[in-house]
Amino acid sequence: MKENDQELIDLDEDGRIKEEENKKDQQPKKNNYTFAIIASIIICIVICAGITAFKFYKKTNQIELIIVNDYDEMSLKAANIIAELIKKNPNAKLGLATGSTPIGTYNELIKKNKNKEISFKNITTFNLDEYIGLAKNHPQSYYTFMYENLFKHIDINIENTHLPKGEGDSKLNVENYENLLSKNKINLQILGVGRNGHIGFNEPGTDFNTGVHDVNLHNKTIADNARFFENDINKVPKKAITMGIRNILDAENIILIANGTNKADAIKNLMSNKADVNIPVTALNIHKGKVYVIIDKKAASKL
Ligand code: GLP
Repeated sequence: MKENDQELIDLDEDGRIKEEENKKDQQPKKNNYTFAIIASIIICIVICAGITAFKFYKKTNQIELIIVNDYDEMSLKAANIIAELIKKNPNAKLGLATGSTPIGTYNELIKKNKNKEISFKNITTFNLDEYIGLAKNHPQSYYTFMYENLFKHIDINIENTHLPKGEGDSKLNVENYENLLSKNKINLQILGVGRNGHIGFNEPGTDFNTGVHDVNLHNKTIADNARFFENDINKVPKKAITMGIRNILDAENIILIANGTNKADAIKNLMSNKADVNIPVTALNIHKGKVYVIIDKKAASKL
């Protein structure tokens, strides 16, 4: 007891020391509080950033942007993705496009078919569009384009290749192609893009819910396509039949390819994550499946 008193007295007598020691005891507690507050703030910031990043990812995860050096690299990348699908699913249904953009991709596919890497024997194809008013065998019909640039070089059964009809009763042609598409789920749709953002022949202003339909081509599109008609605007058909945006979005997955600076605006709009009927290509932002956007550096120059 005495000893305890002594101890208490010693401590009381040395009040200053005791206070300092108390302060020393309290210091770690204060430090602990500060640490806890800072940690909580950091955790909050991390959680908030995580939620924002997840929301952004959810909004854009369907687009995989692949920027390559040039047209050849773009063509090979696209062909590799198509070839992988064909290897996994030899009965796959492909959506095909015309224009100068996919020619390189078709060349790569032809090579892969010739070296027996892939076979088209059980592949079925559906093209996006066709001019109205050109005979099927006209040199600039999309049927001729597909035959010359792909079909005649590969082991596909020509009966398994489908394009909308540009000759005859337009209403019936529209109905027939819509019917055909409704019975066939396209596994992979290949797309180019027009300078004004059109896909297939879906010109700016086309409702995203539109199915197969006839279309009056825009002057910009007619002017762009004149290069295939001896640069004579008067020779370019003014009408076309096309898959609608709804049909395109029905495809399981999509590959969009684009090269050159004249596609840079369309690509910039696509990658801005909006969905605007005045820029048809932006419909890909509401596609539910995967969208590969494979573009060269020039097409990517405005990103
Ligand atoms: C045409 C086709 C489109 C194509 C576009 C771009 O209008 N209907 O499917 O995407 O041309 O053509 P290019 O690849 O020659 O630039």
